[in-house]
Amino acid sequence: MNEVSYSIDTTTLRCPLCRSGVWGKGSDKLVCQGPEAHEFPVVRGIARFAGESYIESFGVQWNRYEVVRPEMDIATFHAKTGWFPEDLAGKNVLDAGVGGGRYARLIGQAGAEVIGLDLSSAVEKARKICSDLSQVTILQADLLNPPVAESVFDFAYSIGVLHHCPDPRKAFANVAKSVKPGGQLAVWLYRKNSLPQELLNKALRAITTRLPDSALKVWAKLLTVPGGIPLLKQAGSKVINFSTFEDKHLRLCDNYDWYAPEYQSHHTLAELRSWFLEEGFEEPRELRPEKSGRLYEWVYDHDLIIGSGVNMVGRKRS
Ligand SMILES: C[S@@+](CC[C@H](N)C(=O)[O-])C[C@H]1O[C@@H](n2cnc3c(N)ncnc32)[C@H](O)[C@@H]1O
Ligand SMILES: [Zn+2]
Repeated sequence: MNEVSYSIDTTTLRCPLCRSGVWGKGSDKLVCQGPEAHEFPVVRGIARFAGESYIESFGVQWNRYEVVRPEMDIATFHAKTGWFPEDLAGKNVLDAGVGGGRYARLIGQAGAEVIGLDLSSAVEKARKICSDLSQVTILQADLLNPPVAESVFDFAYSIGVLHHCPDPRKAFANVAKSVKPGGQLAVWLYRKNSLPQELLNKALRAITTRLPDSALKVWAKLLTVPGGIPLLKQAGSKVINFSTFEDKHLRLCDNYDWYAPEYQSHHTLAELRSWFLEEGFEEPRELRPEKSGRLYEWVYDHDLIIGSGVNMVGRKRS
């Protein structure tokens, strides 16, 4: 019945318009089983359930910058989920906001059955990066109305995504609902900083989000300079956001990632914890950055590190 060359069991999918099951028909579309037989094109091997809308900058970003760094990606994935890729082998996994596919690739290589979902044309990059992994399926779709059934994933994670949605709480609920009872969910969101930092950031982003891409590229590049100067990077990055990665190309991508997207909300740990509890997850556990030291922990706990996160993992009640 499913003629589309997807490795996933299509019972995992649901029509975002009527919630009926979705089946492949030919190699160029999926069709829902509802009375209206809604159709979704499959273009360049990716089923398209939604168009880019407000999220274009991410398509530009992930298709432009080469950010796969396998060793670093494993460390980041572990820090932000509490899991090692091998823990997910043979499991059904949702990457909610797959971006350019760096984490989907990791866990697909480790043997997980992955659905990587993203609203932007970043899906093109994700698909390319995972092209040798038949167990990774990339979908272009909206987390505010995702084409996935409830209670189907053993693991789901969303790293740096929900705060870019116009309604992060609703997107969280949708991802949470897709997790099976007993399954696990990990979410990383931007942390709410002190009021002066928040106000300055809002003012800056009110400008940068209106810049043409060419100017934004220059701004992102300029900000790679302080991020490479040891003393300046400690102090300056508490005033305005710029990336402090060692690798200059990663700094460039990270700066663009901060200043380009239309939506960027910041959250508290208490807020994220309440979302997990409201969606039926047992006492979620905070995941803290792997950096340590008394000074770092103090500034982190006082919400002074711009671009740092609030990060939790929880298990859904059985
Ligand atoms: C900062 S990137 C993170 C990508 C990936 N998780 C990573 O860490 O490499 C955020 C991603 O969320 C996606 N995104 C934002 N809002 C979305 C939505 N409503 N539905 C699906 N994807 C969304 C963007 O297109 C973007 O690729
Ligand atoms: Zn339908």
